[in-house]
Amino acid sequence: MDYSKVFETHCGIAHTRWATHGEPNWVNTHPQSSGNEHDFVVIHNGILTNYKDIKAFLMKKGHVFDSETDTECIAKLIKHVFDTHKDQSKLSFRELVEGVVQQLEGAFALAFKSSRFPGECVVTRRGSPLVIGVKSKTKLATDRFPILFSKDHRGASNSFFSSALTLPGDDTSTLAPVGNHKEVEYFFASDASAIIEHTNQVIFLEDDDVAAVRNGMLTIHRIHRDQDEGNELQSREITTLKMEIQEIMKGNYSSFMQKEIFEQPESVMMTMRGRVKFEEQQILLGGIKDYMQEIRRCRRLLFIACGTSYHSAIATRQLLEELTELPVMVDLASDFLDRSTPVFRDDVCFFISQSGETADTLLALRYCKQHGALIVGVTNTVGSTICRESHCGVHINAGPEIGVASTKAYTSQFISLVMFGLMMSEDRISKQARRREIIEGLKQLPDQIKEVLEMDDQINALARELYQQDSFLVMGRGYNYATCLEGALKIKELTYMHSEGILAGELKHGPLALIDKKMPVMMIVTRDPVFRKCWNALEQVKARKGQPFLICNKGDTETQQQVDKFIAVPHTVDCLQGILTVIPMQLLSFHIAVLRGYDVDCPRNLAKSVTVE
Ligand code: F6R
Repeated sequence: MDYSKVFETHCGIAHTRWATHGEPNWVNTHPQSSGNEHDFVVIHNGILTNYKDIKAFLMKKGHVFDSETDTECIAKLIKHVFDTHKDQSKLSFRELVEGVVQQLEGAFALAFKSSRFPGECVVTRRGSPLVIGVKSKTKLATDRFPILFSKDHRGASNSFFSSALTLPGDDTSTLAPVGNHKEVEYFFASDASAIIEHTNQVIFLEDDDVAAVRNGMLTIHRIHRDQDEGNELQSREITTLKMEIQEIMKGNYSSFMQKEIFEQPESVMMTMRGRVKFEEQQILLGGIKDYMQEIRRCRRLLFIACGTSYHSAIATRQLLEELTELPVMVDLASDFLDRSTPVFRDDVCFFISQSGETADTLLALRYCKQHGALIVGVTNTVGSTICRESHCGVHINAGPEIGVASTKAYTSQFISLVMFGLMMSEDRISKQARRREIIEGLKQLPDQIKEVLEMDDQINALARELYQQDSFLVMGRGYNYATCLEGALKIKELTYMHSEGILAGELKHGPLALIDKKMPVMMIVTRDPVFRKCWNALEQVKARKGQPFLICNKGDTETQQQVDKFIAVPHTVDCLQGILTVIPMQLLSFHIAVLRGYDVDCPRNLAKSVTVE
């Protein structure tokens, strides 16, 4: 459908859909429409949990549904509310949207357009991120944008299923432009990287904010006034993003993922910049420094995240236990919530998330906050929901990560957590020697990462041997266990091969049954305290005719002689070795995916920000 023929405006909406309801096909694409005349169209990021009830209600009223999406209910519902309103001439688009979203349950960021309200666009969010870009030819008159309070629709919400929704008339005195509206353009997006090529001035919307552009002017409204809403919530800050357009361009690389892998010498440096004083052996994480007393006194540390971000907590758990001498719990956010895990006021809960928008992590954050714990966000996205809802936090400063598979964010999360451990142990005499060796290790790391990246051709050659396989096991233990999990995740999400990260200590408790001369296995055997145990695992695999590849240390000829093929990475202090062993796995999965002909930046079925539960 060519929507430009339906709407004579300079204002449009579009959406790249990550399918939740209904397969990715033409009828399920967005915008979803209220019907043939496209009175109302909507795009939606999120999931409606009560769409079946709404659909049943609308079907009874004679609406016919074309798609399998939950989103179509919203388009049909807004039309229904409009059509049944007793005085349509008094109804504003924004108020209509406000009334409709009161009926929706679940998570959503929505953008509406309507041929009934030409030139207007209304957006709102609850649970899914939404950012407004403001592009102005002249300097904006303010760095805060005023919020207007809409008349309360809450009374209307229960009446919906029994009768038509009643909407109050619009309060036309509420328009509040920023600057001269003729010189301002507005962009709505789920993520700031989508609009950075147009502007770096953004407003992050909060849940239940409704923003409308009408006659070229932007207004932001609150659907209802929360009881505890203080003055600071009566406006939204206009933030200037530091992100540069070059950061979200591929440059000479074939994909964002490849670029991001190769950026790691710089991205880890950025994570440490201004925070690690190598000479003085001091670490200062500005975002948490005022909370250090409280953190040091806590009863336990909880690290909660999903996917790759979770692996960064696994990678550093042992070190955090050693340096903080506190109980450290590491949990997957979804499972943490499923268990309704007990959380106490004297717990400190870390939420690690590249995007800062992952729904499971955010819900776990809110759960811990309700239980009175101190909330620390560890994110890569300034202004993200996790950032805003945390008491304090660490920005990992890796720069925008565009490839769906996380690479540089992982190594920067890893280093951020190491820096936190070092900061916690600053005053402990018994830990000083250990701190010194780690800080020295951090200093060497960017150059050592470069050395690993120089092995790209060798890793590509290994990928050629592996890319037609169906399965690939990654084994190790101790500090390298996280590399096994993360390496296997990279392999499966990019190459669609079956892959498992196996703790070598568990080998004889089951996984050994998988080993034969055909099963491809990567074993990580580096010179650290569990080296001998890893060596045992290697012997056991070879005894079953396994022919493993190795990631081992440079110069360790004794280990290298055990196998035909190995990747030798520089040696570093045990707790940082995982950074140097994970990069070959990132490169290997990248090359296998390319050889198999897959799109490495957008693996099938996956999204960069998982904003649905
Ligand atoms: C895998 C990957 C995902 C994310 C996970 C959490 O390469 O990127 O596993 O790590 O979806 O995302 P964030 O870190 O944005 O919360």
